[in-house]
Amino acid sequence: MRILAIETSCDETGVCVMEAEGTFGAPDFRFKVLGDALLSQIKHHIEYGGVFPDVAKREHARALAPLMKTALTEAHMYTAGAGLVTPDMHTQLLQILDREDDLRTQMLAFLDTTVPAEIDTIAVTTGPGLEPALWQGVNAARALATAWHKPLVAVNHMEGHFMLAATTDDHLTDASFPMITLLISGAHCDLILVKDWGMYELLGQTRDDAIGEAFDKVARLLELPYPGGPQISRLAALDRERGEAVITLPRPMIHQDNYDFSFAGLKTETRKIVQSEPLTEERKMHIARAFEDAAVDVLVTKTLRAVEEHGVQTVVVGGGVSANSYIKTELKRRLDAKVPGVIALFPPLSRATDNAVMIALPGVFRAQKGDFADIGTLRAYGNKRMHGYLGVI
Ligand code: KG4
Ligand code: ZN
Repeated sequence: MRILAIETSCDETGVCVMEAEGTFGAPDFRFKVLGDALLSQIKHHIEYGGVFPDVAKREHARALAPLMKTALTEAHMYTAGAGLVTPDMHTQLLQILDREDDLRTQMLAFLDTTVPAEIDTIAVTTGPGLEPALWQGVNAARALATAWHKPLVAVNHMEGHFMLAATTDDHLTDASFPMITLLISGAHCDLILVKDWGMYELLGQTRDDAIGEAFDKVARLLELPYPGGPQISRLAALDRERGEAVITLPRPMIHQDNYDFSFAGLKTETRKIVQSEPLTEERKMHIARAFEDAAVDVLVTKTLRAVEEHGVQTVVVGGGVSANSYIKTELKRRLDAKVPGVIALFPPLSRATDNAVMIALPGVFRAQKGDFADIGTLRAYGNKRMHGYLGVI
């Protein structure tokens, strides 16, 4: 099966073409990324200190058709020529792209000048994420599916992070269910019990800020640019090289008998520390380290507890914050000490943050199950929760 996947939930526009063989989840399953085009919008958001929804929407609209061309070209599947857009189809496309001026111009030009590619299915992120951003991908996918007569699959962004983290090279890592997955991103902090592919039970989640959001906000307090996660992590690592921690911050909810998280209080405590003394470069390092120590301690402690309670052998960490090297080291160290033999899977660094390859995987899984979306009614769901959306249990 060849699938074209589209991701526009936040500030990365991604389009990829993947070829998959065998049945998803079976030992014979293999996949190959034939073309992968990704465009980060970070430079457009830096002046706002975070993702600005209207800008995200505009940039996705501009990038989608060119990235489709790039991904298909890389896959040797792009053929310039007359697209087969009939007058009837043109009317349908105008309806789909009715409210999207930029996207309409780009997509109509692309569809008019591109011979339909030899793909079997189109997958697109429908949520969770920023709704105006998500709609760009959803409507681009609807237009493409209409013009090329292809079936469409709706993908949950968080399921994409999970599935990608559970892969090694060209296959799914051989791991036994149930697993625990910790999904940590700019908008989420979820601990989930995975009973099988596509069967999830939400154990706990953040009650306020997501973990990536907390990293980004603390980075702003420290006058570091967006996105703050990597910046905090870099300073924290420098501070650790220099010796013992100088500042200690509280670990919210760490001892509570549940799997929920709270990071708003930690951010407030960090702000108090920041405001208590002049912010020198040295102090920035101390604070970054204190924040990362506290945040990672809470994440790892709760994950370990879930591993023990559910007797799992595998932990899968996904989402942009899984790029954090300290959480990787700490989780592995503490798993080894407490439950030796339990393995922790992380995505390759190059695909820890948002991309379209992670969307192609659930796309293949759902397409093989015949779980197709209706082109006419497909929509974006900003708050779509993984457990609700994927509540197959
Ligand atoms: O998954 P993602 O790319 O987008 C969302 O779906 O939200 O995650 C982005 C988040 C940002 O908050 C960013 O600061 C954080 O991931 N992040 C990191 C690191 N790299 C990215 N946080 C901590 N340490 C990192 N190395
Ligand atoms: Zn993400």
